[in-house]
Amino acid sequence: MNERVEKALNMQIEKEASSSQFYLSMASWAEAEGFNGTAKFLYLHSDEERFHMLKLVKFVNERGGRAIIPGLGAPQKTFESISNVFESLLEHELRVTESINNLVDICLQEKDYTTHNFIQWYVSEQLEEEALARTIVDKIKMIGGDKAGLYLFDRDLENSAIVPTPANETQNNE
Ligand code: FEO
Repeated sequence: MNERVEKALNMQIEKEASSSQFYLSMASWAEAEGFNGTAKFLYLHSDEERFHMLKLVKFVNERGGRAIIPGLGAPQKTFESISNVFESLLEHELRVTESINNLVDICLQEKDYTTHNFIQWYVSEQLEEEALARTIVDKIKMIGGDKAGLYLFDRDLENSAIVPTPANETQNNE
């Protein structure tokens, strides 16, 4: 496997792993604060990020490279508010998109069209994740400081009105 591509893929493995940890930390905070719907959403999102990581690990190893499982720093433990959680999530996803785009660039520079093709799945996934995060941030902005609105928002998430794509579903779309 092309060394530069392998290195970039390993960096992406680290990003997906740290996304999973970050969302897990958000989920735990939300659960402890009594936002059960938000917690459910974030636990699912954390699982999904782990699946993104695993898909990369398997791809690198199957193509003759060596996937490196990264050590991770402790994620942020506390958050100011639900709004702060989802704004952080959106910012985080924007950085992940940047990194995926960088990976696409490297594949093209190195003429690695197989990896380029593989990474297109992540390009589409990022579009969906960004759109979902923006929708949620917009909803929270509309709610503002209204506690009843926040309660209904959390209940909507609990009843899965808005959910991240389940990992098993994305797996079927491979
Ligand atoms: Fe795997 Fe949310 O980026």
